[in-house]
Amino acid sequence: MKHYLPLFAVFSLFAGCQQKMADQPAHRPYEESSMFPNNQSVRPLESGVIHRNQKLSDDAFLTWLTPAGKSIPADAEWLKSVDPTGKTAPPPGAPTSNDNFVKEFPFELHEEDFRRGQVLYNANCALCHGGAGHANGKIPERGFLRPPSYHTDVNAVAKDWSTLSINKETAKAEPSYTGNPQGTSRGFYRYGKEQPLKTVNVGYIFQVITWGYGGMASHDTQIPDAADRWRVVGYVRALQMSQAASTADLTDELKKRLDQPKTAKTGEKH
Ligand code: HEC
Repeated sequence: MKHYLPLFAVFSLFAGCQQKMADQPAHRPYEESSMFPNNQSVRPLESGVIHRNQKLSDDAFLTWLTPAGKSIPADAEWLKSVDPTGKTAPPPGAPTSNDNFVKEFPFELHEEDFRRGQVLYNANCALCHGGAGHANGKIPERGFLRPPSYHTDVNAVAKDWSTLSINKETAKAEPSYTGNPQGTSRGFYRYGKEQPLKTVNVGYIFQVITWGYGGMASHDTQIPDAADRWRVVGYVRALQMSQAASTADLTDELKKRLDQPKTAKTGEKH
């Protein structure tokens, strides 16, 4: 018994100590304190401090640009073509090359991401770009500048509304947007590049949603969450694939469904 007594004494000493540490005077956040000149207990953060999980400014999730896109080398020939004095330098994010924009999505997209992208696309983009991206939404139908189609298909000129206008004399739809082939990016075309929207890197679509482009307003207030904007980009990519898919792209199960005769189902809700 003699043995255990000192040990017991030591334990009780610690217990008392723990109690005192928990109870010691401490400031609550933003409590007044006379300790510092501005009477605040909370100390200002050092500049450059980042909080846990904060995205860094070189994270593709937020910047969508590659190092090349952030500091665009002044292409002497291009400069000469737009400005003989050579003084105009393309700003960061200028679509002078597809390599200026990240190729990969900054996070893996799953089915629920595409579904969310679809909801956001239908609410924020389809009114102009059309449900499937053929630029046949209601707004251009009423006279607003027609956006480019997301799809490049040389065999389906008639579908590409962005390149068509009605010839008043013949009353026929004719290509009106000369120079820029259907389905190519107007942003890249300004810099002399024929870049199909189908193959622009995902970072470019993210940039157009975030900053807007030409007649299209920025949509970062409508879709404030950057992850949601990436989901919309995902859905735009899915639309582009859907309009150019062949039966070979389908799963075996979907192929079987193609072979089934179409029967009208009664009582089905739409
Ligand atoms: C009010 C109509 C309108 C809405 C809404 C709209 N856009 Fe646009 N968009 C346009 C127009 C018009 C252009 C072409 C602008 C120009 O040529 O000056 C365009 C261009 C684009 C381009 C191609 C840019 C290029 O380089 O050619 C992309 C990609 C795009 N929009 C994506 C989207 C997405 C995604 C959304 C939804 C988040 C959206 N837009 C919402 C009207 C709209």
